[in-house]
Amino acid sequence: MGDRQVFQASTTAPVNIAVIKYWGKRDPKLNLPTNSSLSVTLSQLDLRTHTTASCSSSFSSPDSLTLNGSPQDVSSARTQACLRELRQLRRQLEDSDTKLPKLSEMPLRIVSENNFPTAAGLASSAAGFAALVRVIADLYQLSSTPTELSRIARQGSGSACRSLFGGYVAWEKGTEADGSDSVAVEVAPVSHWPEMRALILVVSAEKKGVSSTSGMQATVATSTLFPERAERTVPKRMEEMKKAILDRDFDTFGKVTMRDSNSFHATCLDTDPPIFYMNDISRAAVRMVEEINQAAGKVIAAYTFDAGPNAVIYYLAENEHAVAGLFKNILGSKDGWAGSRGSAVQSNSEAQFNA
Ligand code: DP6
Repeated sequence: MGDRQVFQASTTAPVNIAVIKYWGKRDPKLNLPTNSSLSVTLSQLDLRTHTTASCSSSFSSPDSLTLNGSPQDVSSARTQACLRELRQLRRQLEDSDTKLPKLSEMPLRIVSENNFPTAAGLASSAAGFAALVRVIADLYQLSSTPTELSRIARQGSGSACRSLFGGYVAWEKGTEADGSDSVAVEVAPVSHWPEMRALILVVSAEKKGVSSTSGMQATVATSTLFPERAERTVPKRMEEMKKAILDRDFDTFGKVTMRDSNSFHATCLDTDPPIFYMNDISRAAVRMVEEINQAAGKVIAAYTFDAGPNAVIYYLAENEHAVAGLFKNILGSKDGWAGSRGSAVQSNSEAQFNA
């Protein structure tokens, strides 16, 4: 009976949105970044991947993974790197206590679901790899800390290392050649600045044209603006951003967020051939934020864009009406998907957002 037993664990991990962007790898194999980055995870938006992992010697080999019901390729170097490291940690436990079941030798069945429509075009690899690493660590009863697990999740997808924590999280680029110090650390928990809010303006639900991985490689290889960004601009902004968060200074938080998004997209435009992630609707969102801030006489809203046209707008709860209210009025309410605290709206120009 013992060897037919099925061992199982479940977990969820959240999507995170960077306010200082990771863009560029100094070591593509170990997924080591050229610069540190910083993100915010808002439970308010409640965008998560839920993952269940089970293992049993009765399962047939090899390992398997399904996402939203579709089988995924587990043989990719990234997934393999994560599974290898986790099995190695489990093996150490099994070697030190021979009574433990040999889970490290059993095939894994991993089942993942995103609680947001894949069609929303939101980056899900961050939540996906964070959930995958966390759930197997739980299944294997590893005592690793979130920072230790972030080193493993980083090898799945860079941004995933920041999703091992909630709240305000830095991914320190590290200096070691083996990547042992390229890990995520908490800057502050959500409770430190609970008034922070975000809304996502889904400009396009289509899959991005140039993947982050190939886009950033091209930028590193060709952009002359890039070294300035990686070596001087970002290190300074990391310090400004950490201080702004610790001081709960939205003015600086917002300014640095917007400037860093623009700096990242400038290096994309400076890539040869150029990469365009923002489109006309993205630029209209930038203008709207500018107008909201001008009308308020200070920065009360901050936009940021990842490797696609969708905008994330940060604001404080006290400005809900001025920021989210205005976007809702302009776009008009329509059926869509809802987060834990809000409803989705959709405009007739295919824009939709979740507040
Ligand atoms: C623009 O983490 O998706 O969202 O490490 O190649 O998987 P890989 O890249 P990924 O890149 C995310 C880039 C970004 C900025 C960010 O999240 O920091």
